Amino acid sequence: MPKDYFVNKVIIVTGASSGIGLASARLFGSLGAKVVMAARRLDKLQELAASVAPEDRVLCVKCDVSDEQDCKALVAAAVERFGGIDILVNNAGLSMRAMFRDLDLKVIHSLMDVNFWGTVNCTKYALPYLLERKGQVVGVISIAGYSALPARTGYSSSKYAIRGFLDTLRIEHLKDGLGVLVFAPGYTSSNVRNAALTADGSAQGETPLDEGKLMSAEECAKHLAKGLARRRSQVILTGLGRATVWAHRLFPRLTDRLTYNFIAKEANSPFK
Ligand SMILES: NC(=O)c1ccc[n+]([C@@H]2O[C@H](COP(=O)([O-])OP(=O)(O)OC[C@H]3O[C@@H](n4cnc5c(N)ncnc54)[C@H](OP(=O)(O)O)[C@@H]3O)[C@@H](O)[C@H]2O)c1
Repeated sequence: MPKDYFVNKVIIVTGASSGIGLASARLFGSLGAKVVMAARRLDKLQELAASVAPEDRVLCVKCDVSDEQDCKALVAAAVERFGGIDILVNNAGLSMRAMFRDLDLKVIHSLMDVNFWGTVNCTKYALPYLLERKGQVVGVISIAGYSALPARTGYSSSKYAIRGFLDTLRIEHLKDGLGVLVFAPGYTSSNVRNAALTADGSAQGETPLDEGKLMSAEECAKHLAKGLARRRSQVILTGLGRATVWAHRLFPRLTDRLTYNFIAKEANSPFK
């Protein structure tokens, strides 16, 4: 990765109060970027800001990405403080775990509002500034945005939708120098499974995975930075993740059965 790629670049990271977003914000900050940290918990962001960058290179903004006006205000705050935007990382996200037959539909609405509409809202208002600087927009999706994951209908749908949105945006701006990166982590250690919604919309409050065995958020952030510095249009992480995406393309019915068996073995599998 070119060492100075991020120096003085203005980077908005949504969902910067935890996990992949926080690790990315810290990495960008350590590489000399001006970082705009956004999330709903402003107090948490303010507590973490010093670990991201010195005061003159960091801004914390309270923003619920499902609220269009919050996203508009986030972009305005970034431009007012730093004079423009080079990179928007649409990372804020929410997961779920329940069979569709048991699901209150408000869960799918919440996931689409945060994951899909959050990405659309922030991108809409940041786009004119990104175009001015031939900047980059990222959508943090998931392997579940390429190959569906059972008991995560709302999650997979929202991540497929982000991919469709960003792949389209890339073509619309092919001649404008806009970089559009679809970034798909595999399983990464974070709070995402604790915060995941269950059938009635309450938080799961636990993880069915051994988080210690997963990729760290810091490692994931390094892949994101590398993908950005190389102006890649797609990054798919982990050997298992890449194998799943290819298997889904080449052997879709076999992949359905393998995915079923994989999820059936999860702790408290929703299939049981
Ligand atoms: N961890 C994995 O295994 C994994 C794998 C593939 C993809 N991903 C994706 O990676 C992204 C980051 O997830 P993570 O694993 O780092 O999870 P995490 O630790 O739970 O972090 C999620 C972040 O999103 C923020 N957020 C949630 N709802 C929001 C809203 N309405 N508006 C603004 N911010 C909101 C949270 O902050 P506040 O609560 O303060 O708002 C938090 O900072 C997500 O898009 C997720 O789908 C994760």
